[in-house]
Amino acid sequence: MRALQLVEPKQFRWIDIAEPSSPGPDDVIVRVHRVGICGTDLGGYLGKMPFYSYPRIPGHELGVEVVAVGSEINHVKVGDRCSVEPYINNPASHASQRGRGNCCEELKVLGVHIDGGLRPLFQLPGRKLHPGNSLAYEQLALVETLAIGCHAVDRCSPKPGDDVLVIGAGPIGLSAMEFVRLSGARLIVMDINEQRLAFTKQFMGAGATIKFTGDGSELAALKEITGGNLAHMVIDATGNAGSMAKSLEYAAHTGQVVYVGITSDTVAFGHPLMHRKELTLKASRNALPADFPRIISLIEAGKIDTKPWITHRVPFDTIIERFPDFTLASTGAIKAIIDVSQQN
Ligand SMILES: NC(=O)c1ccc[n+]([C@@H]2O[C@H](COP(=O)([O-])OP(=O)(O)OC[C@H]3O[C@@H](n4cnc5c(N)ncnc54)[C@H](O)[C@@H]3O)[C@@H](O)[C@H]2O)c1
Ligand SMILES: [Zn+2]
Repeated sequence: MRALQLVEPKQFRWIDIAEPSSPGPDDVIVRVHRVGICGTDLGGYLGKMPFYSYPRIPGHELGVEVVAVGSEINHVKVGDRCSVEPYINNPASHASQRGRGNCCEELKVLGVHIDGGLRPLFQLPGRKLHPGNSLAYEQLALVETLAIGCHAVDRCSPKPGDDVLVIGAGPIGLSAMEFVRLSGARLIVMDINEQRLAFTKQFMGAGATIKFTGDGSELAALKEITGGNLAHMVIDATGNAGSMAKSLEYAAHTGQVVYVGITSDTVAFGHPLMHRKELTLKASRNALPADFPRIISLIEAGKIDTKPWITHRVPFDTIIERFPDFTLASTGAIKAIIDVSQQN
């Protein structure tokens, strides 16, 4: 069968690989229907992802159908539609034993550290499947992106009456915004891109937006919006070290700051800023298993609308030509979904 391999940055090729045979007792074999493209895939393509290794079959945002189950697998059956939790952890590791397999010492993410879903069939541990039979495959492929935001918001647990500032309105920031909105807190969004800010007002329930210009007016704008207190929680989803350092300035006394964006640069800030306000600073990596069924239920219940999210649909056959488009901001993609079931 035919799979798509990223041989090295900017070089895809079709390869022929063997079909998986029969699953091990704890494994499943799935047919891949839809695969979302995200910043991690684009970073891998451009050679800008520090953790990415080559050659690699990309694809970690997956809507799949179960085609075979191992003898120990009871929670899914052949024919089920599922979302995949692509974080393959070692259940015996220290982090996993503490219920945090999302940041396991030996974590291997499908499509990043090990081969992912841009192939018709593959085998994976059955515990990584989350069924959602009433959803479309493209909705199931979107669940992983939403899970990143879900976890980031859970890291700071906003409540009604809190002011939450999300910096960065790319797909990761947007996914956090869905859960800020659902928490009942007030959502404030900051970005440098006005179109992205307008999108958050229209679709994400942003109560206020602030355009980042870097001239220092942002802090005054946030003070005005929050009655002088600043934000109870700040979630930085820019991946920009300068923004991440500055994000502490936007937090209220007693506030919390969550870094969901990733940078390989050093983030530096003056310690008095953190000390004076007694801030809590947290990282947010990947998502927890329970986030997946929760998100599937929220989509089923109509509490998260996936329509504004999916802006582009791409047939698998055309992906080598189309993929570079998604690295360009001018394409205007929020989420592009590859249809892997359409193969010639
Ligand atoms: N925590 C995780 O597990 C996880 C998972 C996937 C991706 N990420 C990371 O999340 C980050 C965001 O991903 P994305 O796909 O949404 O990226 P993106 O580039 O599409 O979005 C980033 C947004 O931040 C805005 N921005 C950049 N610099 C800014 C600044 N100084 N002030 C205000 N806004 C600014 C940009 O205009 C853009 O809208 C990346 O760093 C990515 O690596 C984290
Ligand atoms: Zn992703």
